[in-house]
Amino acid sequence: MSTILKVENATMQFGGVVAVDNLNLEVNEGEIVALIGPNGAGKTTAFNVITGVYQPTNGAVYFQGERIVENHPQGKLKKLYKGEHAGEYTHVLAPTPDHITKLGMARTFQNIRLWKSQTVFDNVLIAMHCRTHANFLAASFRFNRKEEREQRDRVAGLLETVGLYDVRNELATSLPYGKQRRLEIARALATAPRLLLLDEPAAGMNPQETQELTAFIGEIRDSFHMTVFLIEHHMDLVMDISDRIYVLDFGKLIAQGTPEEIQNNKRVIDAYLGVAEDA
Ligand SMILES: Nc1ncnc2c1ncn2[C@@H]1O[C@H](COP(=O)(O)OP(=O)(O)OP(=O)(O)O)[C@@H](O)[C@H]1O
Ligand SMILES: [Mg+2]
Repeated sequence: MSTILKVENATMQFGGVVAVDNLNLEVNEGEIVALIGPNGAGKTTAFNVITGVYQPTNGAVYFQGERIVENHPQGKLKKLYKGEHAGEYTHVLAPTPDHITKLGMARTFQNIRLWKSQTVFDNVLIAMHCRTHANFLAASFRFNRKEEREQRDRVAGLLETVGLYDVRNELATSLPYGKQRRLEIARALATAPRLLLLDEPAAGMNPQETQELTAFIGEIRDSFHMTVFLIEHHMDLVMDISDRIYVLDFGKLIAQGTPEEIQNNKRVIDAYLGVAEDA
């Protein structure tokens, strides 16, 4: 199995708070991997480092073998292949979250971020445009009819897959919470990612919605051949679908293993599972 994501010695410090402390982890292609831990453990911060939202205080992130994030203040190091300085390294600007999305990584947010005044359909369509064109506004002028029709078909197909086709013309914010979370996932999928990062996809869901989401995440992996890396507090979901689990506490990795290993790990039980509401 090949490694799709590698986080190497990543540290993220905010003033005196070390939110992520020398984190090392790997996610392999086709896996569903979970990142769990108590509130404030640094899970979302880790995702923010991975997706280029924050430049880490130290360490690096590799995606599909490419070093996409690192701590150098001038950007990331790039090897020169041509010219008189061939073989030397220079600094190029670190990729922005948009660039990282284009490389094939997409995410959802802990706090739902939908375009509130847009329909379900347009939320996905706009996300798809962002992937195919550098600049959405410029894109809307250059768009030709055929391209537009193809994209609309793809959006419709995607909405069908995620079970939102029937509500495609409703305003995003008029949907019940569980469906808004699905729409967020559909929007991430519209960018055709290889790796999907989900930050608490089941937050605010009732047990039935959580169960449906669990099945849905498994389907996404299987039907899109995607890799999923998710943060979640619903332990039923985590233990059900994860191939492997990483556990963070106060920014530090305290355990990693299969769901069974994690459930029986005393350090994890003491730090988290023993106190999690639904463990
Ligand atoms: N932009 C920021 N500026 C300052 N401190 C921050 C920032 N982002 C996160 N932190 C701090 O970093 C620590 C980790 O926060 P983070 O949001 O990553 O935790 P989490 O594991 O995602 O928690 P939760 O389960 O509640 O979502 C917390 O102490 C938080 O207050
Ligand atoms: Mg969080």
